[in-house]
Amino acid sequence: MSVNPRVLLVGAGAVGQVFGKYLQAAGCELSFLVKEKYAEEARRGYTLYELGLLDKDYEPVTFSGFGVLVSMREIAAQRWDQVWLCVSSTALRAGGWVGELARATGDATWVMLQPALDDREWLLQWVPAERLVSGMIPFISFHAPLKPGEPVPRPGTAFLIPPLTRGPFSGPPERLDQVVRTLRAGGYPASRTGDVARGAALPTAVLTAFVEGLEAAGWSFERFLQRDSLERTIRAAREAVQIAAWRTHASASALLPLLRPALFKLLLPLAARVTPFDLETYLRVHFTKVGEQSRLMMRTYVDLGRSAGLPVDGLQALTPGDGTSSPESARSRAERPG
Ligand SMILES: NC(=O)c1ccc[n+]([C@@H]2O[C@H](COP(=O)([O-])OP(=O)(O)OC[C@H]3O[C@@H](n4cnc5c(N)ncnc54)[C@H](OP(=O)(O)O)[C@@H]3O)[C@@H](O)[C@H]2O)c1
Repeated sequence: MSVNPRVLLVGAGAVGQVFGKYLQAAGCELSFLVKEKYAEEARRGYTLYELGLLDKDYEPVTFSGFGVLVSMREIAAQRWDQVWLCVSSTALRAGGWVGELARATGDATWVMLQPALDDREWLLQWVPAERLVSGMIPFISFHAPLKPGEPVPRPGTAFLIPPLTRGPFSGPPERLDQVVRTLRAGGYPASRTGDVARGAALPTAVLTAFVEGLEAAGWSFERFLQRDSLERTIRAAREAVQIAAWRTHASASALLPLLRPALFKLLLPLAARVTPFDLETYLRVHFTKVGEQSRLMMRTYVDLGRSAGLPVDGLQALTPGDGTSSPESARSRAERPG
């Protein structure tokens, strides 16, 4: 690896811009691979807003000085140390570009951040485990303003890394070390952990059921916190947790007893009070944006649960219309290009 790592970030959305900022601060030579429709905006540079808890001041910081690429031909003409996948689980599977990118980027370390339970296995078709680092995103980032009237000097990407948060990564030791050291040099709170996929599987299962429950409640906290809605969500969350535990060999015994209405009744209003933006709006906007990914994740739980003989009725009740899914049909849907 060169002194200043050459890093390609795929996707310059809310997450790509945040990681890009820290990697650039670490001295990386940065480029984004963007869709043609976003290239002009990317070449102008971005505005970032770093938020603190309870801190409602939006101080703009200009983020520019990176390359903007739109084709595999441009990518293949350069040498890369790291490739970061800053797109959703569904975007990863759309269009067959991942194999092409793997061929165009030689021996680069790949960093994946996707949340679906079988994303890593899917990616291993093209990127060998010896070059694949997995990470979990612990921050919230979004296009600001989230809604009219917010005190945002100009449109940009706002992000919040909650205090004491660590951004965990796992992977082959030498490559993992390079990624974590680079991020830390840029001021990002990266940490090494044994297995990100296993560590993230159970919290992600709860979050996925929560998001489906919130959507079913029309994205309204008030409606979500009503008894029927909470009970439906918790039933689905318990099933998703058990399926994720079965799949990753993680233990669910500490988490399952916590999945009670009181947990959501306590945490949701508290989280809404300390976030420096409207949490209800963020959840609606963000999870509508990645809605296809949420549905893919729910289908994956149902399909894996069925193949393991685990209960999935609660999950299916929360995803009407997906009752006919099978492992084969879900897999072929997920892998179909386009
Ligand atoms: N934002 C957060 O707070 C947050 C927090 C935790 C986890 N995550 C996860 O992080 C992932 C990315 O989320 P995000 O908020 O950054 O989404 P985003 O703002 O939509 O950014 C993704 C960007 O990548 C683009 N893209 C998709 N496929 C591409 C390709 N093949 N080549 C180049 N660009 C491509 C998308 O284009 P289109 O607009 O055309 O789709 C979009 O501009 C998701 O899995 C999400 O669940 C996000």
